[in-house]
Amino acid sequence: HELIQARLRDQLLIVVANREPYIHRYVGDVVECIQPASGMASALDPMMLACGGTWVGHGSGDADRLTVDAHDRIRVPPDSPRYTLRRVWLSKEQEEGYYHGVANSGLWPLCHVAFTRPIFDSRHWQTYREVNELFADAVLQEAGDRPAFVFIQDYHFGLLPRILKRRNPELTVAQFWHIPWPNPETFRALPWKEELLDGLLGNDLLGFHLGYHCQNFLETVDRNLEARTDREQSEVVRGGHATRIRAFPISIDFERHSAAAAGPEVEREMARWRHRLKLDGKLLGLGIERIDYTKGIPERLRAIDHLLENHPEFRGRLVYAQCGVPSRGHIRAYQQLDDEIDDLVEGINWKWGNGSWRPICYEKRHSNPAEMTALHRLASFCVVSSLHDGMNLVAKEFVASRVDEDGVLVLSRFTGAARELTDALLINPFSVEELSGAMHEALTMPRDERGRRMRRMREVVAENNVYRWAGKIVSTLLRLDPDDVPP
Ligand code: F6P
Repeated sequence: HELIQARLRDQLLIVVANREPYIHRYVGDVVECIQPASGMASALDPMMLACGGTWVGHGSGDADRLTVDAHDRIRVPPDSPRYTLRRVWLSKEQEEGYYHGVANSGLWPLCHVAFTRPIFDSRHWQTYREVNELFADAVLQEAGDRPAFVFIQDYHFGLLPRILKRRNPELTVAQFWHIPWPNPETFRALPWKEELLDGLLGNDLLGFHLGYHCQNFLETVDRNLEARTDREQSEVVRGGHATRIRAFPISIDFERHSAAAAGPEVEREMARWRHRLKLDGKLLGLGIERIDYTKGIPERLRAIDHLLENHPEFRGRLVYAQCGVPSRGHIRAYQQLDDEIDDLVEGINWKWGNGSWRPICYEKRHSNPAEMTALHRLASFCVVSSLHDGMNLVAKEFVASRVDEDGVLVLSRFTGAARELTDALLINPFSVEELSGAMHEALTMPRDERGRRMRRMREVVAENNVYRWAGKIVSTLLRLDPDDVPP
């Protein structure tokens, strides 16, 4: 991170993301501060802690307004402040149109191959424009006259780069698109495709997780817009302005995560879970994610059912813990998924439960980082069965938690993480048999093989940590050699 700071020199770093890294909410009469279940937020927070700067995000907690100053700013983390969080307030209508509407009912299903139809509504698009303008106001206010590097996150802000460049051409603007970019045939379903592409081409640099997403983006621009695309340089020139398109696989703060996993708080949580799950020598399988139809949760529950059907020796011996963080609950597809998971858990537990043993323990709530890390450490295997996922940082967090070099990762081939974590058991999540077979393989894998695989995966994540990710982005932006970033 010293290198990132050196390369940024006197520029103010401004991160823009819909999701704020710290949310204040009421629990009864008490205000508590939580960190959201967001791969994006957990990846960007360490960079901000190290480099300082300002994070502009949507103030979404019901107690958020209580904690800010007159300029809607708060220093975070609240107990040892290192950077500024500037909260932007949205009306219910704005949240509905921009967040639930365009971002999560339109662009999210459009970009993920999970066979959920995107829904487009021109009133929502109007709100999306309005909210992008609103965030531009906040960014420009934060930057003032200073040179600033604005680092935009995700698909909530497809129009923001163009707005910023129009209003202040001196700003350096980069964006990272944390989800996949679809092929041009899929993308043509978006009614406002030219406007979105033009907005994104306001960036000086646009990053994706994979080279494949970069290729899809270049081809999409080629087919839809008046612009010059240079495949060799991976660059698009529109109206005299060049946008570089590059792949930067995101990661986590491996050191910090590993150190926490070996610490006393996690040990205490492990003891609590052992008691709560009645483990008592039983084996533990694990899944942790937002309740989202891209994550393949029903597929994995069916695989547990299949495993118990075909391997009776695990009845009474295996507990599968599913932590599901409620997410985007105003959207119908999410409500339907929620019902489907409840029904599956209920059905499988009824079918196989015996005495005090239930095969599935479903924790439908927000869990804190120490609780999740404790589960990682206890699990014989962790399943990430996303139907499609840009990266998936749960997979990398599981690996970072395993300071004991044990535990097996069962990982969907359709995640960005599968390109790096080739020592996981890689599966096609659409095949219940394959998924259940991998769980069985994980449960019966000899200790030395588990150790070998986990050691290699830990090396990969340690080497390609989030600082390296950020360092490469900043270096590319400044036209320095991105590979000249020490490990
Ligand atoms: O990882 C992709 C992502 O869209 C993040 O950008 C986002 O913060 C996360 O999923 C969780 O989604 P949400 O912020 O809508 O809860």
